[in-house]
Amino acid sequence: MIYTVTFNPAIDYVMKFPQVRHGGVNRSVSELMFYGGKGINVSVVLSQLGVSNTALGFIAGFTGTELETGVRAMGVNTDFIRLDKGMTRINVKVSAEHEVTELNAGGPDIDEASLARLTEQTDRMKDGDTIVLAGSIPKCLPGNTYEKLIARLSDRNIRVVVDAEKELLTNILKYRPFLIKPNIEELSAIFGKPVSGMDEVRECAVKLREMGAQNVIVSMGSNGAFLLDENGEKHFHTAFSSGKTINAVGAGDSMVAGFLAGYERGFDYALVLGLAAGAATAFSEGIATREAIDELMKQTGF
Ligand SMILES: Nc1ncnc2c1ncn2[C@@H]1O[C@H](COP(=O)(O)OP(=O)(O)OP(=O)(O)O)[C@@H](O)[C@H]1O
Ligand SMILES: [Mg+2]
Repeated sequence: MIYTVTFNPAIDYVMKFPQVRHGGVNRSVSELMFYGGKGINVSVVLSQLGVSNTALGFIAGFTGTELETGVRAMGVNTDFIRLDKGMTRINVKVSAEHEVTELNAGGPDIDEASLARLTEQTDRMKDGDTIVLAGSIPKCLPGNTYEKLIARLSDRNIRVVVDAEKELLTNILKYRPFLIKPNIEELSAIFGKPVSGMDEVRECAVKLREMGAQNVIVSMGSNGAFLLDENGEKHFHTAFSSGKTINAVGAGDSMVAGFLAGYERGFDYALVLGLAAGAATAFSEGIATREAIDELMKQTGF
């Protein structure tokens, strides 16, 4: 079973306006709602690809109930921990004149007892299971929350996938995560210098493997992705270019899902399925669908 963890999920409420006047009344021309958070995005794409998985994380209030219903309606099993206080965030995205202004809420506080319940869930995971930790840790939790969770799993046969930034990522490399997927900006932040060009990308990936990661994917948006696999073999693929980019948020999460879904069929297939899932998300308003991914896969030799 693959488990994803989303500490601070959100309902994204996207409102479109021709233009926005500050301090005045603005009437939207359309509204869309998305249920998300990085772990949930991974879960949704896994489910689209027919991979059974469970979304874990924390929800609160009536918005939490709605989020859970929405995520389940997308075919994802959930086992969220309900917090007694606060409410799951609604993040408002104001889209006007080709720009999106994001109004993001902080989200509910996660108390110690609820965090302990997540540890109980990870303790119950079985040999061969995979856990995906994606995104940042809410401010209410100690910065070493990922590290503590992963340290506890480290002597067990559980694949750990981490898609996070800076120290959150570097601090866990010693526990030999199965997969990490920094993008170029994250890579630059980790190494404290702007990373550009394939030679530098390769060098950084090699260093991250030396630091402990088993598989390293460096995603480069519309420039494709590079994989340094667990055997030290290098793979590169250009991105799909057959669609129009509409909204690339979540492309990285989709790529993680595609890679996991394709892993048993070999590294090249897994990487290409990751690229297809990422592109299918970038080419649509929300997250990739099975149909869109299949359509892109038809263009490949797989
Ligand atoms: N505009 C695009 N056109 C085609 N493919 C894309 C595009 N954007 C992303 N992808 C695909 O998705 C993969 C992951 O995207 P990206 O590098 O933007 O991840 P990310 O920055 O981690 O995104 P996020 O954190 O928002 O999920 C890319 O390697 C690429 O294969
Ligand atoms: Mg990302």
